Amino acid sequence: MKTVALGRTGIQVPVLAMGAASLGSIYHPVSQQQANETVATALEHGVNYFDVAPYYGLTRAESALGIALRGVPRQSYSLATKVGRYGDSQWDFSREATLRSIDASLARLGTDYIDVIQCHDVEYGDLNQLVDEALPTLRALQEQGVVRHLGITGYDLALLEKLAVEQSVDTVMAYCTWTLQDRRLGEVAKRLNQAGTGVLNASPLSMGLLTRHGAPAWHPAHQDVQAICRAVSALCDREGVNISQVALQFALTTAAEQGIASTVIGTASQQNMLDNVRWSAQPLDEGLLQRIDALMAPVLNIGWDSRPGNGGKAQK
Ligand SMILES: NC(=O)c1ccc[n+]([C@@H]2O[C@H](COP(=O)([O-])OP(=O)(O)OC[C@H]3O[C@@H](n4cnc5c(N)ncnc54)[C@H](OP(=O)(O)O)[C@@H]3O)[C@@H](O)[C@H]2O)c1
Repeated sequence: MKTVALGRTGIQVPVLAMGAASLGSIYHPVSQQQANETVATALEHGVNYFDVAPYYGLTRAESALGIALRGVPRQSYSLATKVGRYGDSQWDFSREATLRSIDASLARLGTDYIDVIQCHDVEYGDLNQLVDEALPTLRALQEQGVVRHLGITGYDLALLEKLAVEQSVDTVMAYCTWTLQDRRLGEVAKRLNQAGTGVLNASPLSMGLLTRHGAPAWHPAHQDVQAICRAVSALCDREGVNISQVALQFALTTAAEQGIASTVIGTASQQNMLDNVRWSAQPLDEGLLQRIDALMAPVLNIGWDSRPGNGGKAQK
């Protein structure tokens, strides 16, 4: 897998990274065997940057990833996890919670350092606490070598950019905002990248919306958005192409020009990981993309911040 610099971190990140949220059975039940096979396949193909969080499957994803990585030389992969979110509607950016969370993540992941530690879904937490407690605590741990680089994640792009600039964090991870359906991350990513911040585009399949199965029941996208994505999937099927293939290839082939270092896709399936690796080496069908763009136009860039759906887990 091709690698690029992740901002100023010094990490050479694969352009396709693995999101391990799915190992916490958030989309469908996942066995440890499936987790092991998916992670081993990722590593075999150079997908050696793993993103996870204590929140995913309420610690199950970190535990499964830690077991799957047992025996793998620690220098051969990078680990990114998070602090601050501990339940669907539970945030805590206090110093105590941050310290506790790091200790527990290290134990579950079977390591003594974390390459990138990120404050999770910043828009829902207490921002004063994040700035006054979580970030200084993480910076102290950085000096001890327990965490190597600091980042933030979330959906609110304006807030992510503001915080990244003001707090000089090393990485920003945004999700579902550089996809076939939503292209809002691009301009923000370009500016962040120019300032030396590493940008990660999470959820190129928009958390299942851009798959043949469609979005899971908890997905926050509005029903109009979901209906059009189903129509796009049907169009792809008529052309003999899986919508996930086009969605991933769109994200990957446009990433560099937008200043996005890596696209973080989630899967708990060895076969889907293999497909993702294979698709990443193939060109995007520009003709099909034009037809998808025309169909998608009425809901392009419509996120659940402007038109909420019935799903979504987070409540303020
Ligand atoms: N706030 C945040 O910090 C935040 C938010 C969202 C995501 N993230 C990160 O980004 C990662 C990726 O996001 P995500 O997993 O939520 O969404 P995603 O990557 O957009 O989509 C995941 C879904 O796509 C399916 N999928 C993957 N490859 C496929 C393929 N080749 N064919 C068909 N279906 C395929 C997966 O099912 P299978 O398991 O069956 O393959 C799963 O249902 C997460 O794991 C997490 O690390 C972070």
